[in-house]
Amino acid sequence: MLSTLAIAHYRSLRELVLPLGRLTVITGANGSGKSSVYRAMRLLAEVAQGGVVRSLAREGGLPSTLWAGPEHISAAMRRGEAPVQGTVRSAPVSLRLGFGGADAEDFGYAIDIGLPPPVPPSPFSLDPEIKIESLWSGPLLRPSTLLVERRGAALRGRQDAGGWQSLGRPVPAWASMLTEFADPRSAPEMLTLREQLRSWRFYDHFRTDAEAPARQPQLGTRTPVLAADGADLAAAIATIREIGDGEALDAAVEDAFPGARVEVQALADGRLRTGMHQHGLLRALSAAELSDGTLRYLLWVAALLSPRPPALLVLNEPETSLHPDLLPALGRLIVRAARDTQLIVVSHANRLIAALDDAADEGALQRIELKKDFGETRIANLDMDSIPRWQWPAR
Ligand SMILES: Nc1ncnc2c1ncn2[C@@H]1O[C@H](COP(=O)(O)OP(=O)(O)O)[C@@H](O)[C@H]1O
Ligand SMILES: [Mg+2]
Repeated sequence: MLSTLAIAHYRSLRELVLPLGRLTVITGANGSGKSSVYRAMRLLAEVAQGGVVRSLAREGGLPSTLWAGPEHISAAMRRGEAPVQGTVRSAPVSLRLGFGGADAEDFGYAIDIGLPPPVPPSPFSLDPEIKIESLWSGPLLRPSTLLVERRGAALRGRQDAGGWQSLGRPVPAWASMLTEFADPRSAPEMLTLREQLRSWRFYDHFRTDAEAPARQPQLGTRTPVLAADGADLAAAIATIREIGDGEALDAAVEDAFPGARVEVQALADGRLRTGMHQHGLLRALSAAELSDGTLRYLLWVAALLSPRPPALLVLNEPETSLHPDLLPALGRLIVRAARDTQLIVVSHANRLIAALDDAADEGALQRIELKKDFGETRIANLDMDSIPRWQWPAR
């Protein structure tokens, strides 16, 4: 489990350290930085897929993703006595992402991304470079918890006997040590962490329009993880029935639509179709016939009751296009899913947050409210004592 998420110099997140619980909900007004937190977590997950530099390029490169405000916001700037613009950058460009583990068996990780040195000139002078990566045990990076460190191209790991050992060949500037290095004997923690990061799952705005993939019948293979676009909904539901918690599935449907039941129909050509029996209807309606909200709710059921829960599940605004009456049931479903996986919900729906609050045990929901302060995203609802300590690797 993760205890902390830390982001620096990414969009409006100049320096943000968030405490994470088993179930965390991140809220805030429009423009407060919720989507930026979500995207920063996606970038972290991309590290383990080998795609972080390319993803940054897709977002417009470092110049557009970097914090666009001053390095330091002085008291005079806050009082309006000094202009916000006009400070000259003194520190090197450095976009940093990281997380801390909840206890000593959980790993922490941080990555520091910058630009190549100006000389020699190169066609890739604006191509982001990975400068530092650190892997440690537990919540906080310290000399005593550090296990593996990459500085530039050099990689070293702590030896069991104490002391440090250089690991393998040089790591290219655009690649993460997590994808470049794969020797289970000299640094098994790298493989463990990579697999954990690869299991992270993100769900963001399922399509439910008439042509949505989730409405079409699909060839059925066993599907323990619903695809990000929900195309394999029928197979995912059938898989939950076969190897997962079918009772929880029925209960979640009953909770939202009393008297209704979901079934998976096998068509003559082998494709699977989702159907739903509803109170008062003589036949089941197929996914193509369900309302947007009903289909969307079924997609959340299939995503959240996955028989292979990931290390971390992140939901971006799951309330989108759901009828407000469905939010209490969705809240209960999310709380149920947090029994098996660590969950982060980004939301601006007060009714969903209230539903999560109602469904979760007292004190089990970590609530973070973001606000914008001088262009910078900050935490609005927690005092300093509730913010975990955090240490970035020094350049
Ligand atoms: N490079 C940047 N530096 C500073 N602020 C930025 C940068 N890029 C975008 N922003 C600002 O970040 C804010 C947060 O946006 P977003 O994460 O989409 O908020 P939300 O999802 O909470 O509505 C926006 O108001 C935008 O103006
Ligand atoms: Mg947003």
